[in-house]
Amino acid sequence: MVDNPDDPRFASRRAFLRSGLVASGAAALGGSLPARAETVGNPANLPPNVPDWSRFLGEGVGVRAYGKPSQHEANVIRRDVEWLTASRESSVSFTPLHELDGPITPNGLCFERHHGGIAEVNPTDYRLMLHGLVEKPLIFTLDDIKRMPRVNRAYFCECAANSGMEWRGAQLNGCQFTHGMIHSVMYTGVPLKILLEQAGVKPNAKWLLLEGGDAAAMTRSLPLQKALEDTLVAYRMNGEMLRPENGYPVRMVVPGWEANMWVKWIRRIEVGDQPWHHREETSKYTDLLEGGKARRFTYVMDAKSVITNPSPQAPLNHKRGFTVLAGLAWSGRGKVQRVDVSLDGGRNWQAARLDGPVWDKALTRFYYEFDWDGRELLLQSRAMDETGYVQPTKAELRQVRGVNSIYHNNGIQTWHVRSSGEVENVEVS
Ligand code: MTE
Ligand code: CO
Repeated sequence: MVDNPDDPRFASRRAFLRSGLVASGAAALGGSLPARAETVGNPANLPPNVPDWSRFLGEGVGVRAYGKPSQHEANVIRRDVEWLTASRESSVSFTPLHELDGPITPNGLCFERHHGGIAEVNPTDYRLMLHGLVEKPLIFTLDDIKRMPRVNRAYFCECAANSGMEWRGAQLNGCQFTHGMIHSVMYTGVPLKILLEQAGVKPNAKWLLLEGGDAAAMTRSLPLQKALEDTLVAYRMNGEMLRPENGYPVRMVVPGWEANMWVKWIRRIEVGDQPWHHREETSKYTDLLEGGKARRFTYVMDAKSVITNPSPQAPLNHKRGFTVLAGLAWSGRGKVQRVDVSLDGGRNWQAARLDGPVWDKALTRFYYEFDWDGRELLLQSRAMDETGYVQPTKAELRQVRGVNSIYHNNGIQTWHVRSSGEVENVEVS
């Protein structure tokens, strides 16, 4: 399964990492960044001159029927790492976390992970089948689902393999690549519980099979308890219909649990009394420990955080003085309660400032403002959630889990800021 980025063999491909990154867009990856336009500027556009955009009428309404970002934001894009997978259809593209702010991910920038490419589902022909251990098997159309009572909830969706390439050491130079298999959007959807109530679940039911309508026909087993608790059958993200990449027209939203459970293009839910056997490549979501033992059913994504600015793709470039450090924190067990930041590799910690809504099981934005005197820094952030769980160091994590895992790496990330302002992914012992 060399074409599967969630496969352990990735970890052994370290030698290709640096060269791979160069090939995938060196300009965007720090070091050789050109001076930003806003720091230089074209004198003709600066005061007291009247800039170009103030002299002429602009485009009228309707020209941009579906709006796009400014042409000057062209480098704010999802990126993939070409050597990571053998094919584009079973691969992953990463969210540019260092280019974003606030707690919400814009739809067009949400990381994508497909095992069989993007399914282009015609909404009129869309059907969701619900059968198995139920009184009344049902088939829902998209209209049926839209006519049920709906809720709005913001949740993060993190691939269990996020940061998976970092188990054996610092590897990828940018939070887009080390932490970009995550997005957090406001979903509109129907609690799965409502659909299950309509079908009438039999008393011996314990597990659900979730099956996707893409060419991979990905399946996962979901405990009935989670289905009844907070799982959604969602069709909107940030107000608009789901993007095809993210499961249009309907996907599962399984709050706080690994993204592999969030089956996209959901077409079938079968109610049963035990977990199903799944095909290897889509469901080998176990964590191999030292000595050959493995952790299974590790669904919950533990508390984690990352500093998005500065970071390798967003260096400080000699910008001394007042500095706004920004980052993201999240926990699959509830709300983020606190984030601490260290400038010296974990010796001293200060409380960061959480800003914006702190939603349950969603990305939470934090800031830490400080005066940078140009000294080298070892930046770290450490999240704590409302259960009191504290994000572990990578060393602590390895002590318990070894280095054979791919999944569930929530260790503390370190960025080394040089006095030039360049930033690099490193580890401190
Ligand atoms: N659902 C289907 N039908 N097919 C898939 O390949 N990939 C899963 C999950 N759901 C997948 C799927 C995995 S491994 C992840 S990480 C998430 O979708 C990614 O969701 P996203 O593409 O919206 O980011
Ligand atoms: Co995944």
